[in-house]
Amino acid sequence: MADSLGCLRRFVCELTTLCDAGAAEADMREHGGAALSRLVAADDWLPPEFAQPDPAHYRQYLLYCDPLERFSVVSFVWGPGQRTPVHDHTMWGLIGVLRGAEVSRNYSVDDAGRLTCTGEERLLQGAVTAVSPQIGDIHQVENCLADRPSISIHAYGANIGAVARHIFAPEGGGTKPFVSGYANTMLPNLWDRSGETRARLGYPPMRVSAQGQQAVIAGMRRWVICGPFAGLHTDGDIARILLKKSKNRGRRKLAKLQSDGTLLLDAISVLLLTSHAA
Ligand SMILES: [Fe+2]
Repeated sequence: MADSLGCLRRFVCELTTLCDAGAAEADMREHGGAALSRLVAADDWLPPEFAQPDPAHYRQYLLYCDPLERFSVVSFVWGPGQRTPVHDHTMWGLIGVLRGAEVSRNYSVDDAGRLTCTGEERLLQGAVTAVSPQIGDIHQVENCLADRPSISIHAYGANIGAVARHIFAPEGGGTKPFVSGYANTMLPNLWDRSGETRARLGYPPMRVSAQGQQAVIAGMRRWVICGPFAGLHTDGDIARILLKKSKNRGRRKLAKLQSDGTLLLDAISVLLLTSHAA
């Protein structure tokens, strides 16, 4: 399997390294921003399930959250003309445009609660900008394309979906507390490096077909693991044990190595294999 999420994994690792080094907010913005520039330089890695717009509202998909909640990475998907309310973050945030174009309008608020627009940035594909209480934390973001979605990758200095923030009403209408949420319940798998590892070791690729997995779910008795037996990685030792045990059994084989190099397992073997793999 191609390591299509390797760039996102490297971005996550770069932010983790900065956090581990105790980087100050300005350093997170500078060096994290440079890392985000590299991430959004090519629009060829975001899985489609994290790029789906909603006809009514912009969406936020969590792509990664640091286990210590020191940062999070989110894909924002904006349908044509969709925008956020004016809001704050209460921490550093980075915005990198992966697809399309957006406009970020920056605001200040005075002691009386009056909002003033202090400028706006038009962000084209590949552009990166930052927000934070130190440099200006209140803004509104909008997809400035009328005919197609825009997508930006955001990083924040916390689990942004667990932070109490504020929406600012126009014309000094006060603030409203809010906590943003996530549209997804499952996260992209950044950590499947098996294809890269097999390639480095000179192993042939392992192909476990979706049909095979569905066959197990459907309760079918036999399941073919496609690909040469030698290509089995994590499960290779277990498969060898099954083959060895099979030699001592009668007509009913737990596992059988096919002439084409594929491994034919019965349902019990699959259960053993998956329980060991888990
Ligand atoms: Fe924002």
